Amino acid sequence: MQPPWWQKGVIYQVYPRSFMDSNNDGIGDIPGITSKLDYLQWLGVDAIWLSPIYPSPMADFGYDIANYTDIDQVFGKLEDLERLLQQAHARGLKLILDFVPNHTSDEHPWFQQSRASRTNEKRSWYIWHDPAPDGGPPNNWTSFFGGSAWQFDEKTEQYYLHMFDVKQPDLNWRNPEVCQAMYDVLRFWLERGVDGFRVDVLWMLLKDEQLRDNPPNPNWKPGEAHEYRQLGLYTEDQPGIHEIVREMRRTLDTYGERVLIGEIYLPPERLMHYYGEMLDEAHLPFNFQFVTMPTWEARVIRQIVDKYEAILPEGAWPNWVLGNHDRPRIATRAGREQARVAQMLLLTLRGTPTCYYGDEIGMENGSVPPEMIHDPRGKGHPELSRDYERTPMQWDSGPNAGFSAPGVTTWLPVANDYQSWNVAVERDDALSFLSLTRELLMLRRSSPALTLGAYQAIDEENESCFVYLRQHDEQRYLVALNFSAQEQEIHLAIRGRGHVALSTSMDRDGAIDLSALRLRPNEGLLIEYSII
Ligand code: GLC
Repeated sequence: MQPPWWQKGVIYQVYPRSFMDSNNDGIGDIPGITSKLDYLQWLGVDAIWLSPIYPSPMADFGYDIANYTDIDQVFGKLEDLERLLQQAHARGLKLILDFVPNHTSDEHPWFQQSRASRTNEKRSWYIWHDPAPDGGPPNNWTSFFGGSAWQFDEKTEQYYLHMFDVKQPDLNWRNPEVCQAMYDVLRFWLERGVDGFRVDVLWMLLKDEQLRDNPPNPNWKPGEAHEYRQLGLYTEDQPGIHEIVREMRRTLDTYGERVLIGEIYLPPERLMHYYGEMLDEAHLPFNFQFVTMPTWEARVIRQIVDKYEAILPEGAWPNWVLGNHDRPRIATRAGREQARVAQMLLLTLRGTPTCYYGDEIGMENGSVPPEMIHDPRGKGHPELSRDYERTPMQWDSGPNAGFSAPGVTTWLPVANDYQSWNVAVERDDALSFLSLTRELLMLRRSSPALTLGAYQAIDEENESCFVYLRQHDEQRYLVALNFSAQEQEIHLAIRGRGHVALSTSMDRDGAIDLSALRLRPNEGLLIEYSII
């Protein structure tokens, strides 16, 4: 049986505001994305996931949706999305939309009705509660963006729940009408041919019915993100959630081979449950360990990979994420030289990789002056802002990096170093970050060992390196990664002949001695390997 496309393929995340501005208003849009499909095809990715493009007051840049079945005018029209879909499909690219079921915008007509009176038919579509006896919020739950998760609404004298911004009221997923309305949203887009969904905060849809207080997180330190202040004992991963995920999956499955991806920040043991006991829930519960790990170290990474592979349910397919619109970019976290090694890791591990736009050219976090911070999480706390990883894509060395016309003020400033780090410059440089990414994608696509092959870690003494084998039938690759800025030597106790297929430095090939393998600082090697 042929494996489904989402197992063989590589997903590329586009943050639409920042990808390509076609109408020169300083904000990226859908026609802009369509104009870059040739680039994505040339790059060699298989599927594009778009962060939300629906009508929104943009309190959380599209994650606050006022209408699930239309397109925000800043991004274009429904016809533009249909054209993007058709043009993507014509190039063999899949299109995945973001689905945000946990909350709507407070400007969504459902919430407008819900807040109108206590007896409104949509009242129970959201989570309303009387004040505590002292008039304060019903319990201690805190919002991911800081402060109480409850907002008092004068008109009806009750609090509503918002786990994120005050303009993002949480829907009540215990109300079957809400569930049906949201499954209808999925159908609306499936009918139009989208290839799947990335489901926002999937593990948080249900909250404790008794509204019990969350315990404080004993490890949280002032200055760390608000979302870690409490342990989400009563707001995350609640009993009943799996029925909802199963229902989403059933809805997708009636349309053929579509993919269900879940945004789930949970420890790996608990994450695994989201594949479903019968593998009937998310195809890919996002595996965020590479974006949440505190230090980028060989030992830790090997432990993460080995454990994840060991606990993966039988028949479940792994996936790896290196960056997204919520976390600092890998080139900033690990450094640009090391980011090449990270890219080799991402694209040679077993499982579907997700690449965040710009990471393929080695983009670092941009600098955004405090007065230009847009992100609700960064308001008053610039150190927590996510704007830095959302700066415009760097297409060329011209004004505004080719993202927008010269003279236009872009919604976030273009990164300072864009003249050396952009698609046009790197395309012409055989040793560039972009050339490395493209070569890795090409090798991955053409090698069953890399797309579908088994994974096995190789034991070696060197603490700074991680070596593993990928194998399918007769094809074998060794991946040897140096996570340090010093030269390293590895002695592999395997008998065989090695041939360098790719170095992260792009300047090395030919036969290699596996008994004394030398890796230069921050070097990764992809080695074709045959047993003798
Ligand atoms: C998810 C999104 C994030 C958003 C939040 C609320 O975590 O990735 O960007 O702020 O959900 O929708």
